[in-house]
Amino acid sequence: MLNAAVYGLGWWGKTVTALLRGNDRLRVTRAVTQSAESAAYARAAGIAPTPDYDEVLRDPAIGAVILCTPHSTHLGQITRAAAARKHVFCEKPLTLTRRDAAAAIATCNEHRVVLAVGHERRFEPPTLELQRMARAGALGTLLQVEANFSQNKFLALPAGNWRLDAAEAPAGPLTATGIHCLDLAISFLGPAERVMVSVRRLGSALANGDTLGALMMFKSGANALISAVLATPFVGRFALYGTRGWAEVQENSHPDAPAGWTLTVCDAGGERRSLAYPPSSAALANLLAFADAVEGRAPYPVPQDEMLATIAALEACVRSAESGRVEFVEA
Ligand SMILES: NC(=O)c1ccc[n+]([C@@H]2O[C@H](COP(=O)([O-])OP(=O)(O)OC[C@H]3O[C@@H](n4cnc5c(N)ncnc54)[C@H](O)[C@@H]3O)[C@@H](O)[C@H]2O)c1
Repeated sequence: MLNAAVYGLGWWGKTVTALLRGNDRLRVTRAVTQSAESAAYARAAGIAPTPDYDEVLRDPAIGAVILCTPHSTHLGQITRAAAARKHVFCEKPLTLTRRDAAAAIATCNEHRVVLAVGHERRFEPPTLELQRMARAGALGTLLQVEANFSQNKFLALPAGNWRLDAAEAPAGPLTATGIHCLDLAISFLGPAERVMVSVRRLGSALANGDTLGALMMFKSGANALISAVLATPFVGRFALYGTRGWAEVQENSHPDAPAGWTLTVCDAGGERRSLAYPPSSAALANLLAFADAVEGRAPYPVPQDEMLATIAALEACVRSAESGRVEFVEA
């Protein structure tokens, strides 16, 4: 049993805590929070709250931290956890720059702690099937990805919320939802080479913009077309096109309340078949993969070079949204 402390008990910290309630492999026993409301939530859930991160890092009963905090704080929190020999599950994005992502990975490796990241889309059952198909060559040569993760959950955020800060959430929807599409594209196509991104504020008061369109060009030669809109109802789809067919995963709901998926596969002859997947929590599957890695049962399935490639691409996307030009991804 791995005992963890959650840092940040906002939307996602509470989601993670609820997912792990009663789990016999990974459980949340402590929470770091500066808010009285969240501390009361923790106590009601049988979790001991503290405002002091160091107190948790000194606690020998804690083996891991789960970071559900604003993006700019991740590297500092990872560095302190690794130095205290606590394994780290960090919510996405790992960091906001490639340099910081490299530092986060290096410090975890130096202190021999596992680093995991909240890219639960990789753990969805139809996405795992798509990975199996792609690796087996069932789709032939991979040509292009089309991915969309849009939602309108943030329209009522109060002014002053960290998600409206350009330093915390550059390029509007990118760090909220676009990052999931970008990371998934990298998991199929490898590292990106160049990006061209447009972000505009068209349908909301969200200061950093609400509508993102991105073209990513990969070292393999393939492309990804990514759409992330924060002023339209939820949609989630990931389509992969190849020379021997295409396949598409459609999400029935946001991952905070899973409602299942549909996987449609089209073969080279144009014949389509669709398969419905029942609801399951990919976020929980990701957390349990982290626990497995900590306990030495299996390596954590998101390779560190892909963690780095995702943040390098994110950083180039931010530059492109600002410059209006094609930007190269730092290798
Ligand atoms: N994997 C997913 O699908 C998913 C979904 C939602 C959020 N997230 C990620 O989870 C993390 C937290 O997001 P959230 O939606 O829970 O945010 P939130 O605003 O609801 O909660 C953030 C928490 O961090 C605390 N906090 C600690 N340091 C802070 C600081 N310096 N400034 C402000 N708050 C601070 C806040 O008190 C709050 O409890 C982010 O990295 C976000 O991208 C991931």
